[in-house]
Amino acid sequence: MFHSKEYSSMCRCLIDYGIKKVICGTLDPNPKINGRGVKLLKNAGIDVSVGILEKDCKELNKIFFINQKKSRPYIILKAAQSLDGKIALKNGASSWISNSQSRKDTHLMRAQVKAILVGKNTAVNDNPALTVRLSHKELGLAKSLPMPQPTKIIIGDIKKAADAKKIFANNARVITGSRKSGFVKNNVEHLQYKNKNFLNAFMTDLFARDISSVLVEGGQETLNAFIANNLFDELVLYTAPIFLGRKSMGATNLESPLLIKEAARLKLQKLERFDGDIKATYIA
Ligand SMILES: NC(=O)c1ccc[n+]([C@@H]2O[C@H](COP(=O)([O-])OP(=O)(O)OC[C@H]3O[C@@H](n4cnc5c(N)ncnc54)[C@H](OP(=O)(O)O)[C@@H]3O)[C@@H](O)[C@H]2O)c1
Repeated sequence: MFHSKEYSSMCRCLIDYGIKKVICGTLDPNPKINGRGVKLLKNAGIDVSVGILEKDCKELNKIFFINQKKSRPYIILKAAQSLDGKIALKNGASSWISNSQSRKDTHLMRAQVKAILVGKNTAVNDNPALTVRLSHKELGLAKSLPMPQPTKIIIGDIKKAADAKKIFANNARVITGSRKSGFVKNNVEHLQYKNKNFLNAFMTDLFARDISSVLVEGGQETLNAFIANNLFDELVLYTAPIFLGRKSMGATNLESPLLIKEAARLKLQKLERFDGDIKATYIA
């Protein structure tokens, strides 16, 4: 995908090289482009076909498409739940609901996004590192390349690095967002908001900081907020073959619709099995 200036010069190259036929998977959703490249090529007498393997091309470029259309990061919600839809015991314990294969898969997902976001309670109570802990070989990366480590994002009030030691360890890049003032130091940025519901604004501000994709790893209140604001593109649920019972915390705690037909229905995109766990990927 190209910026408008690059687009024109790429089209100019194709024309100058005397290319006779061009096949486009899909048009660029950038309103500034708006089919301009195709028009340029056609006007130069090039035979242009659009829409070959369009679905695959859109999937390949899904992050870019959402970025262009919505000016926000591509948002993936993720949770590990029990068969009865619980993500933690009443005392807050959630390690480990899913098995080691599912957790390894989560690290692969982490390696593919620009940022990982958690709610304040998860950051403080679970003290997660929010890092990619896979080898270069497991990621299919050359040893000479740096291990991709996403930016860490916390929503909620964090007063000091000691509140979530592992997140702030090793001078990692962290961005926090809340209505109150937060602390700032090397690599730690705090974004403060006036409005009670600042989730949309927070996402826009993250996008402006080059965060093109976010993996939201919970907990319940955080997942609720993203779902209630219809602010997600994918939902990934790892379901482990265990029951955690009614006193445990549900993955969500949303308002109920009055009628079943009012409930938003997601599209099941993929089902995978990791030993006894099932990973379901839904599209919003
Ligand atoms: N199984 C899993 O996949 C999984 C994953 C993650 C966490 N968990 C579990 O989930 C539990 C924590 O869940 P939780 O619901 O208590 O807390 P949470 O979602 O981790 O954090 C809630 C806090 O985050 C901030 N926050 C969340 N959404 C916000 C919004 N839209 N606007 C402003 N602030 C927002 C608020 O902080 P302030 O109060 O500072 O404003 C809020 O109190 C833990 O037990 C953890 O182990 C399970």
